[in-house]
Amino acid sequence: MDTLHKKPMLKIIEILQKKLLQTEPKESVAFKVINPDLATSTYNGNSVIVNDEEIIYRGYKTWMDLAQLLYCKMLTPTIIDENYILMRYEKLNEDSSFHKTITDKEEKYGTESIFSQIYKNEEAAFIYYYRQALKNVEIDKRVRILNLGVNSGDEFEVIAECAENFEALELIGIDYCQSALNAAKEKFKRSKNITFYKHDINKLNALNLEKFDLIISIGTLQSSNLEFNKLLMSLVQNQLKRNGAMILAWPNCRWIDGEMIYGARMKNYNFSEMSNLYKDVNFAKKYLQQKKFRVTVTGKDYIFVTATSIVKI
Ligand SMILES: C[S@@+](CC[C@H](N)C(=O)[O-])C[C@H]1O[C@@H](n2cnc3c(N)ncnc32)[C@H](O)[C@@H]1O
Repeated sequence: MDTLHKKPMLKIIEILQKKLLQTEPKESVAFKVINPDLATSTYNGNSVIVNDEEIIYRGYKTWMDLAQLLYCKMLTPTIIDENYILMRYEKLNEDSSFHKTITDKEEKYGTESIFSQIYKNEEAAFIYYYRQALKNVEIDKRVRILNLGVNSGDEFEVIAECAENFEALELIGIDYCQSALNAAKEKFKRSKNITFYKHDINKLNALNLEKFDLIISIGTLQSSNLEFNKLLMSLVQNQLKRNGAMILAWPNCRWIDGEMIYGARMKNYNFSEMSNLYKDVNFAKKYLQQKKFRVTVTGKDYIFVTATSIVKI
């Protein structure tokens, strides 16, 4: 057991990084730290006196952050005594990331993929901001709703929960992944107001869907097969009503071995890099503002661009 409770965070990171290099995936490392419940209204790094000794205070948030930064899952700490706990980190198996599996383009996110085991609606850092975005666009006032990259329909489930008049809405979901669409159809088999199309988003105009009050696209627009700037302009010009709204979201995370790990992934980098994410978010914000939308950028592990037209509904 390492005793890290008197060391500065810089040193703790160094020590744990070295230790984890010699640790196999799914094995854990343990170290003694101050019991975070010992103090309150105390910022990390302040000193607390324990048995006449000066100890550095740290709360659970920083231990959880560190676990993720080191590609670990934080396990439930064990209590050593009233002053100290044993912090335990389990090293993640990075090979089981869905980013590294499935080669068939259309089935990459299908029911056989690891992606199908991900349920973002139970991730607080996702659902909190998605719900907030739905409130911002006044979901009850939006009748025709289009979802691009709908997959198995999780985002419609939230609308069904949040909207007061769900049956009166007309929802359309587009995806080119047949197995995910089959799952979505099964999930909503009693909802006559939802239609799913197996179709390529690049050829959306061919569906002649007319204009929508709300367009949603989550975790899809960063796809390398889509030209984001062109697609956004075409959506605003051809598919969105003049007083319509948009909720667009980009992942700022990776899914690894059961964990949603903060930070966007970019090819050729072995650390999180967010240039592409900021570029797309910035383009969306500027373009939508030019087109007379009020735009907010929110979120954490997913970055939401929410736009509402300044033309009244
Ligand atoms: C990362 S998943 C996100 C799904 C869902 N919105 C979510 O966040 O859970 C991206 C989805 O977009 C679909 N997709 C990607 N490119 C597409 C395209 N050109 N046409 C239709 N669907 C596409 C994929 O099949 C997949 O279901």
